[in-house]
Amino acid sequence: MEMALWRCVFIILLKAVWQGPGDVLSQNVTVREGEEAILRCTVLEGAVRRAWLNRSSILFTGDEKWSPEERVSLLKGTKNQYALRINPAEPQDEGSYSCSQQPPGRVGAKIVIFHLSVHVPPHIYNMTGDITTDETSNVSLRCRATGNPEPQVTWKRIVPPGHEWRRSEVSLPSVMRKDAGTYECSARNGVTAPARRRMILTIRYPPVVTEVHGAGAALGETAVLRCEASAQPPPEFTWFRDEHRVVTRHGIRLQTTDSRSLLMFPNVTNDHYGNYTCIASNTLGTSAASNLLHQTPTESTNRVKEDSSHRRGPGLDIHGRACSTHSFSFVAMLFVMMVAVMGLHAD
Ligand SMILES: *[C@@H]1O[C@H](CO)[C@@H](O)[C@H](O)[C@H]1NC(C)=O
Ligand SMILES: *[C@@H]1O[C@H](CO)[C@@H](O)[C@H](O)[C@H]1NC(C)=O
Ligand SMILES: *[C@@H]1O[C@H](CO)[C@@H](O)[C@H](O)[C@H]1NC(C)=O
Ligand SMILES: *[C@@H]1O[C@H](CO)[C@@H](O)[C@H](O)[C@H]1NC(C)=O
Ligand SMILES: *[C@@H]1O[C@H](CO)[C@@H](O)[C@H](O)[C@H]1NC(C)=O
Ligand SMILES: *[C@@H]1O[C@H](CO)[C@@H](O)[C@H](O)[C@H]1NC(C)=O
Repeated sequence: MEMALWRCVFIILLKAVWQGPGDVLSQNVTVREGEEAILRCTVLEGAVRRAWLNRSSILFTGDEKWSPEERVSLLKGTKNQYALRINPAEPQDEGSYSCSQQPPGRVGAKIVIFHLSVHVPPHIYNMTGDITTDETSNVSLRCRATGNPEPQVTWKRIVPPGHEWRRSEVSLPSVMRKDAGTYECSARNGVTAPARRRMILTIRYPPVVTEVHGAGAALGETAVLRCEASAQPPPEFTWFRDEHRVVTRHGIRLQTTDSRSLLMFPNVTNDHYGNYTCIASNTLGTSAASNLLHQTPTESTNRVKEDSSHRRGPGLDIHGRACSTHSFSFVAMLFVMMVAVMGLHAD
């Protein structure tokens, strides 16, 4: 392409620009990245010169291609249109394109300016990863996203459901254990569904025993002592009876999860009654609580005791049997004495 023609087109365009708004039309075209963009300019009857420009660089003059860009072509088979095709459209193609035509018998050119927008789905490219920290530390969450239009970035605590921040950087000063959870960053620009990513904030703290449950059981019954604790990292549970660590022999079983320990006695014997201490510990500390496994009357005596309030009299031999099996238990003794007193009153 000779310099002369280039200069010619340039001059035509310059003239057109100075000719006033009547001859400059403007049009918006929006496509998504990767799609085809077609800019359609209606052919003026008998126009002598035509050109397509990308900003100020020439893409085509007439049917002759100036641009080295392979993605650019003229749409074929469109008699009434001088149409530019960009396939696939890329983000850097966004900008102004102009179609210029010189109508017959006029000096100036008629120009249509196309504002091409190339939309890009949101993409999160830099985000804070999982954090494990201690209470009172300052935590900051960062989430950077690209996209066109510029995405709106939002942080939200989703597990457990919590606060939402409409910004990409969030400061959590002096975090407490209640701040722990799963946080999600989402970037939204309306081109596709929002981009989302999650991170987990873990706050470490020493154990706190939140609940202990003693139990009462008769000989031969099943008993469960329960100890619940919260801690991060999750606590280890140990059980003591007086100064001795409880071993899971002698008919004792242990069932422990991250937050709970069950000391189970499938078949309570006299040796099992006592004061048990549950200790929850992690690297940051320990917490302890005590609970009692105490003896209660056997089920059969319970039933009889209920019955005896209605039918006075018989049942003394049953009390006697209870006495013989519980003879070494103080609690049982107490119970028997109680029933005996009741029996006296009944008489
Ligand atoms: C093109 O878009 C701009 C904003 O992006 C708007 O101001 C203008 O009115 C639009 N023009 C046409 C012809 O739609
Ligand atoms: C338009 O020009 C811009 C900037 O010079 C360039 O990055 C882009 O690839 C061009 N696009 C086309 C379709 O020519
Ligand atoms: C993310 O942003 C942080 C803070 O600006 C920077 O230090 C880090 O290098 C970035 N990471 C990546 C993968 O770009
Ligand atoms: C947290 O930030 C506050 C003020 O912004 C500062 O006084 C404090 O020392 C910080 N704490 C830590 C653990 O960095
Ligand atoms: C419970 O223990 C006693 C004494 O050791 C035994 O006689 C009894 O059979 C046991 N009961 C069960 C259900 O295992
Ligand atoms: C059980 O033992 C703990 C620790 O040894 C003690 O503090 C608590 O008073 C005891 N409880 C009972 C009911 O004896």
